[in-house]
Amino acid sequence: MKKISIVLFVAFIMSACTKEQLPVADYNIIPQPKETHLSRDASGYFTLQPSTKIYFEDGLQREAQFLSEYINDIMGYALNVQEYQGQPNGIVLKLVPEDFDQAEAYEIDITPKQVTIKGADAAGVFYGVQTLRKSLPVSSIDSSQPTGQRGKDKGETNCQLPCGIIRDWPNFAYRGMHLDPCRHFMDLDSVKIYLDMMALHNMNQFHFHLSEDQGWRIEIKKYPELTEIGAYRSGTVIGHNGNLYDTIRHGGFYTQNELRDLIQYAAERHINIIPEIDLPGHMQAALACYPNMGCTGGPYEVWRRWGVSDDVLCAGNEESMQFVEDVLNEVMDLFPSPYIHIGGDECPKVRWEKCPKCQAKIKELGIKGDERFSKEDYLQSYVMNRMAKVVEARGRRVIGWDEILEGNVSETAIIMSWRGTEGGIEAARKGHDVIMAPSSHLYFDYYQSEDIASEPMCIGGYLPVERVYEFQPLPGELTTEQQKHIIGVQANIWTEYIASFRHVQYMAMPRMDALTELQWNNPKERDFEAFVERCRHMAQLYDLYHYTYADHIFNPQVWSDTVVPNLATRKPITLRQQPAEKYTYEGAILLNDGNLGRGAYNSGRWLGFCGYPMDAVIDLEQAAEMQHVRFHALVNKGAWIYNPSQVKVLVSDDGENFREVAQKDIPISTWADRDGIFAYEVEFETVTARYVEVVISGYDLPEDHSGFGNPAWIFIDEIEVW
Ligand code: ACM
Ligand code: ZN
Repeated sequence: MKKISIVLFVAFIMSACTKEQLPVADYNIIPQPKETHLSRDASGYFTLQPSTKIYFEDGLQREAQFLSEYINDIMGYALNVQEYQGQPNGIVLKLVPEDFDQAEAYEIDITPKQVTIKGADAAGVFYGVQTLRKSLPVSSIDSSQPTGQRGKDKGETNCQLPCGIIRDWPNFAYRGMHLDPCRHFMDLDSVKIYLDMMALHNMNQFHFHLSEDQGWRIEIKKYPELTEIGAYRSGTVIGHNGNLYDTIRHGGFYTQNELRDLIQYAAERHINIIPEIDLPGHMQAALACYPNMGCTGGPYEVWRRWGVSDDVLCAGNEESMQFVEDVLNEVMDLFPSPYIHIGGDECPKVRWEKCPKCQAKIKELGIKGDERFSKEDYLQSYVMNRMAKVVEARGRRVIGWDEILEGNVSETAIIMSWRGTEGGIEAARKGHDVIMAPSSHLYFDYYQSEDIASEPMCIGGYLPVERVYEFQPLPGELTTEQQKHIIGVQANIWTEYIASFRHVQYMAMPRMDALTELQWNNPKERDFEAFVERCRHMAQLYDLYHYTYADHIFNPQVWSDTVVPNLATRKPITLRQQPAEKYTYEGAILLNDGNLGRGAYNSGRWLGFCGYPMDAVIDLEQAAEMQHVRFHALVNKGAWIYNPSQVKVLVSDDGENFREVAQKDIPISTWADRDGIFAYEVEFETVTARYVEVVISGYDLPEDHSGFGNPAWIFIDEIEVW
């Protein structure tokens, strides 16, 4: 008897010790649940262990399986999944719609014996499952092991879930991510991983951009040439849209069977796929297959360049309108999505202005231009509204890019605001539903670090995680009633400069963490530091799943970005002509504040000038001897930014009468030259003067540039004098 009690006592001690060492779940995840109430009794835990069972009610078997799979990924063991029949212990998944007042809401109730995940609907339960998954102590597990093997030999596979209640619900019903597999094709398995990434971030709308100038990506049975010819280009422009091309055939497409599989894969993860057929611009790949659908009749090639092609669908040709209707109908046969995206962005009108068919159509429809929009703009509205009717006839709604506001767009169209938030604001005021996806905050194809020399080349721009996190999707200019039209928030990933799926992931994460905080929570108070701490845990999950991600927020960059103090540093400076308004920031003082220009042209550390020289006068405050002037300029030829053509240095004793002491011409950067940040230095005979004037002129865009004839931009920073 005594012996037995000693054995029991020892067993008790051992189990108590083991318990203390068990890793503990942490509910501070991304997105942050709205309410977490932990039990007062700190010793209360539910112990997750290999013998734990997952029970489901209400047909939630797939959600239960997901939870088992996720636990296997993280802890190294899958849990048994069964239908619930009143068992007292385990994890229980069920629907209790009457307990919630909105869709997708969930509650997790953790007691020592049971974890109950109840949802307003199956999606709510799924997000509860995601929250439980993200709370697990992934750091305690050896992620170098393949999934399914982790934790197996470590003897510490159990973990403790602190008792309490988590209540959570989304702020926006539409939580989107976009992907462009047209500029660079992404295979089906990669797209599935993208959907997994979305599920991990509680996102529910996948905007799948399936047609472009550079490639058509969806099989359409009625028009087989679209994928036989239109899915492949014979080469691709090198760098930022220069005049050099590779000769590597690039392309691919998704068959309808593959897409059905993808739709099912997404639906299991409570993600809707919104297909986009971009009209009537961005259609050159289709025109390459059916040249009679363009205004000039072609010939056209599947485009090998980036940008906006002048060749668009002929709006005056019934055949091209019938083509679009057929395509949309086949797309709707395939995709059950309540939304169909019909594009509408970046449609130049130069062909329509000259096309007899388009002009005849304008006449036939009695279209007139007015002070706001041209008759060709209204012709585009005619195309978009006609296609909206085709979509609405089948009980769906159209989404269009904000350009479709330029004309008389039908009120039922949902506006996707990408050129800033202005389009979204205007649309909401007019009563349209709106999705906010402004390039200023949510274009994940932009740089996420100022140290662009260390980043994979991308389209340009500067959009660090901080900027995403600070985005306010509900503009203060709108009334509360109007704000209700903002149904969602979305980030876009265009792939002109993103050729691999690993690079897509790098651009997406951790910016998706900031995005989901906006979509799911849109917190009034934002705490970036606390957010970064929660991102660290997400990064462990990214490591676990071998996702590529950017780590700038975890490793703040330390580089020397100041110049050696010189005669000009922080002396009074004036500009004879101000920079472009968008690129003025603090104004002239940026030019000699001692900090070097860094990052992309819109990083706030460059002043931008276009069509006139930068002309700065620095007052050295006393006469000084000098021999050198140096400055930096940024070159990004695809973004119309060239190096300066010439620099002149003048000096003066009185600030009024200047004499030239140096002049230097700078040869124009060619497509064979790299883009980047360059220093330019002028040396001259020693002079003594109090005032220095530096005049930096720009080039006009050369003949081999798509903007030929326009002035190039110059972006200048940090003028040094010594
Ligand atoms: C877009 O970025 N052209 C919608
Ligand atoms: Zn035409």
